[in-house]
Amino acid sequence: MNMNEIERALRELRLSGIAETLSTRVMQAQAAQQPFLETFAAMLQDELDRRRSRLTERRFKRSGLDDRPSLADFDWRFNPKLPRSACFELHTLKFIGEGANALIIGKPGTGKSHVAKAVAYQATLQGYDVRYVEADTEFARYGLASTQEQAEQLKAWVEPDLLVLDDLFLARRIADISTELLQVIVHQRYKLRRAIVITSNRVVQDWGKYLGDATMATTILDRLMHRCAMLEFEGKSYRLKEAASRIAVAPV
Ligand SMILES: Nc1ncnc2c1ncn2[C@@H]1O[C@H](COP(=O)(O)OP(=O)(O)O)[C@@H](O)[C@H]1O
Ligand SMILES: [Mg+2]
Repeated sequence: MNMNEIERALRELRLSGIAETLSTRVMQAQAAQQPFLETFAAMLQDELDRRRSRLTERRFKRSGLDDRPSLADFDWRFNPKLPRSACFELHTLKFIGEGANALIIGKPGTGKSHVAKAVAYQATLQGYDVRYVEADTEFARYGLASTQEQAEQLKAWVEPDLLVLDDLFLARRIADISTELLQVIVHQRYKLRRAIVITSNRVVQDWGKYLGDATMATTILDRLMHRCAMLEFEGKSYRLKEAASRIAVAPV
């Protein structure tokens, strides 16, 4: 086989990781007079790396995350009262294995979504199946969907290892169907010991009011809180700080 034929064979065998680096590996082997096995091992590693990064990319796409925030770019000095060690504890992802939950509750702009997304992204990197959902938007969409779409949607929220419901009760009252949906999600995931992270600007004491049904609220909270880390985000809004600095640099 000549080089072209080898490349074609690699593509046919779906070894695109090897195909991509082949010419480099050939040069490298010649330059270093490398033993065959060493070159072969490097080529296998290229294929493995490529497959892993593809899988990670697929998991990221499926997660519904729109960016890749990290705790590394979080400024802990801005709101010194944030529960920093609890955030890093979540980031270890131990809670996913334990099927535990986390509630991140507090003021707008303090970084609740940032932390929840950073944890979710880390989970995709570590091979977990993750779903990130902007709760109000997606719950409203669920309410308008057909029965079959609803069943599929529900499955997509129950099955993953980690479900993130971001900004629950943004709109204060949620529709009855959303309350029922939340109850089904929480109950099923509780039974299956699957982790949920919820962020909200609303304190837990008021959830009954927003859910519109005290009994339902109690059964939802009972299960959510059974194994649950509570993270309180007290502080000032980073959004306002960003807006203020934009105004400061804007030409007049
Ligand atoms: N301490 C912080 N350091 C760096 N960026 C922050 C910090 N707090 C918030 N942000 C950023 O400010 C914006 C608003 O934060 P977000 O997580 O959406 O707040 P919340 O969900 O609590 O309303 C985001 O772009 C986020 O990345
Ligand atoms: Mg948010």
